[in-house]
Amino acid sequence: MARLEGKVVIITGAASGMGLAGAKLFAKEGAKVVATDVVVDKLAENVNKIVASGGEVIALPLDVSKPESWKEVIDKTIENYGKIDVLVNNAGIHIAKGILEAELEDWEKVMAINSTGVWLGMKAVIPHMQKNGGGSIVNTSSIAAILGGIGDGHGAAYSASKGAVRSLTKHAAQWFGKDNIRVNSVHPGAIFTGLAEAVGIKSQEEMGAHYEGKSALKPYAGESMDIANAYLYLASDESKYVTGLELVVDGGWTTRS
Ligand SMILES: NC(=O)c1ccc[n+]([C@@H]2O[C@H](COP(=O)([O-])OP(=O)(O)OC[C@H]3O[C@@H](n4cnc5c(N)ncnc54)[C@H](O)[C@@H]3O)[C@@H](O)[C@H]2O)c1
Repeated sequence: MARLEGKVVIITGAASGMGLAGAKLFAKEGAKVVATDVVVDKLAENVNKIVASGGEVIALPLDVSKPESWKEVIDKTIENYGKIDVLVNNAGIHIAKGILEAELEDWEKVMAINSTGVWLGMKAVIPHMQKNGGGSIVNTSSIAAILGGIGDGHGAAYSASKGAVRSLTKHAAQWFGKDNIRVNSVHPGAIFTGLAEAVGIKSQEEMGAHYEGKSALKPYAGESMDIANAYLYLASDESKYVTGLELVVDGGWTTRS
């Protein structure tokens, strides 16, 4: 049996990078996938490709920082599939400005998407999961929630936002365990995705060369599917006794002394 057979999964930030890899993998593993993103054209194009290869996926617009946008996605998901089993809060942005360089506007933008967006997503799905007898929520944090320095890509708000995701995950794991709702966080290290491409990095190898000496494993940067596989484990019933976990996928970066 496929690992997510019959499960209804909402994933955010699915137009590119880890979110897109997750949507592809979930569809391959038998899920009904609700792929969402604020960038709708690219999302539709990628979702069409997954559908063409036999996956059950729908594309819906979602700005994770807007409660009304979440309401539309939840209403349409329930209308189409009648339940929500899994939410992957993957969407995120990065602004490479430190404490002294960042303006209030930078800070608020990063926090609104990376932290508030995760809270709004959990607030929107949890009542449906409670009704349904349980569920799994996977929140994307970062090694920036664990390390200072280059692990945060020089983003002060980014570090703070991912730290909030780490602690909010543990808070939710405690409060909703009684409802059989599991909440875990994934902490990627350097992974070659749209975020890296946006700052001009062209390949996984080029990114790895930049981070040589940080990760223990070659090529010193991971790929989107490394994270999608972590999402899959936490979304599936294989992790049914796992909640509040920080699953670090960083090639060993955080083991450095
Ligand atoms: N790439 C890395 O090295 C790395 C490391 C640690 C953590 N992360 C985290 O992994 C997650 C996925 O990032 P990625 O590397 O795949 O980047 P990416 O840029 O390829 O994908 C992020 C997606 O989020 C979407 N998005 C941005 N703002 C949004 C909003 N308001 N509402 C909905 N969607 C929105 C973007 O359109 C994009 O499709 C993010 O949370 C990121 O912070 C990435």
